[in-house]
Formats: sequence, structure tokens, C-alpha cells
Amino acid sequence: MDSSRQASAQAAGVRLVSTAIVPATPEDATSIAALHAASWRSTYRGLLPDLFLDEEVDRNRLDLWQRRFELDEGSRPLTLKAMSGGTLTGFACALIDDDAEWGTLLDNLHVRPDATSRGIGKLLLGAVLARVREAGVSKRLHLWVLDANTRARRFYEREGGVESGTASVELIPDVHVAEVRYVFDAYVR
Ligand SMILES: CC(C)(COP(=O)(O)OP(=O)(O)OC[C@H]1O[C@@H](n2cnc3c(N)ncnc32)[C@H](O)[C@@H]1OP(=O)(O)O)[C@@H](O)C(=O)NCCC(=O)NCCS
Repeated sequence: MDSSRQASAQAAGVRLVSTAIVPATPEDATSIAALHAASWRSTYRGLLPDLFLDEEVDRNRLDLWQRRFELDEGSRPLTLKAMSGGTLTGFACALIDDDAEWGTLLDNLHVRPDATSRGIGKLLLGAVLARVREAGVSKRLHLWVLDANTRARRFYEREGGVESGTASVELIPDVHVAEVRYVFDAYVR
């Protein structure tokens, strides 16, 4: 395995294992949705309504992932998963060349809450940027992050993202949140 695609990860709690970044398939829909919901519950507490996080987020994320994986392979967003040993520890989802000005949209990047700070987010972001360099017409990548998500913002800034704009976004029905856009040049990082 390419060494740039490995990282020390204590994903199972005790064992040090290497992490591989590989394409996700429709069979991953349920486990990716569960990780996505767990990450939202852990990260967005206090930022999204408790009722949504306690009772609706699992269904909401499962609907999203089932819809995405029902698309033909050609029109589906790029979805990469991080596997540490046999365990899913993170995923990234991107729309290549989504925007004429800002390039590829990194729509989601989540590491399992008990596997953060071990380099898995960096591996996933690096793998998406590599794909932008190979497949994108534009060599830019952008993403939106909650203004209040300081940990993720620190991560993106350290990885070379440049803040470039703000917006109020309806993240879930009837809930508007302040978000910040970060832009990456795929050749700089
Ligand atoms: C933001 C996020 C994707 C970053 O992923 P990550 O795997 O935690 O990121 P990395 O490990 O690559 O780098 C982050 C941290 O690990 C440290 N680190 C990196 N590689 C490391 C390694 N091999 N060993 C130990 N620490 C390491 C970094 O110094 C950094 O520290 P900090 O977070 O305490 O400041 C992740 O924290 C996450 O999923 N957060 C919740 C969801 C979220 O906010 N997603 C973004 C939505 S826009």
C-alpha cells in the first residue's frame, strides 16, 4: 500500500493499525450514514436542535446516503472511505468540478468521533485533492464549514485552506446556520 495512504490509527481502541483510503460502494451506505450521524451528534451539539440530533439525524443521514448510492455510478459523487483494519473510520464525499469559479465541492468530511486526531482526516483530504489534480478541470477545491466548528476550521487552515466568504445556509429544514467557505489550490498543499 502507498505509504502516503497509511497512518497510525488506534481505531479499535487498543491496536495500532494502518489506514487505507478506498472508494466506497453502495454496500457502504448504511455504515457511512451511521458514522455521519454519530459525527453530527458529537460535533453539532449546541449548533443544531437537540430534538433533531436525538431523534432524527439517523434517518436524515440514511436517506441522504441511500439517495446518493441509488444514482448511476457516473453521476454519483466521489465517495472515499477510510478503513483502519476492517473498520470504517471516516469518509469524504466530493462533487468534482461542481462550481465554475470555486471548483470541486468537498461536501462532507467526517472521521469517527473516537478516531479523530490520528491523521485520518488529513489522509482523506489528501486523497480527494489527488483526485482533483487527476480528474478536475478546475484545480481548486472548496468547502463550507460551520462558523462555530472551530476544530474543523483549524484543521482546514493547517491543511492550506484559505477562508473566502460566508453564507447563511439551511443545513436542515428550517434551521439556518452561519458557514464559512475555505478554498484549496490542489497543487499547493
Ligand atoms: C475535522 C476532521 C475531519 C479532521 O480529521 P482528523 O482525523 O481529526 O484530522 P487529523 O488527525 O488529520 O488532524 C487533526 C489533529 O490530529 C493531529 N494529528 C495529525 N496526525 C496525527 C498523528 N499521526 N498522530 C497524532 N495526532 C495527529 C493534528 O495535530 C490535529 O490536532 P487537533 O485536532 O487536536 O488540533 C475531524 O476532526 C472530524 O471528523 N470532525 C468532526 C466532523 C467535522 O467537523 N467535519 C468537518 C465538517 S465541514
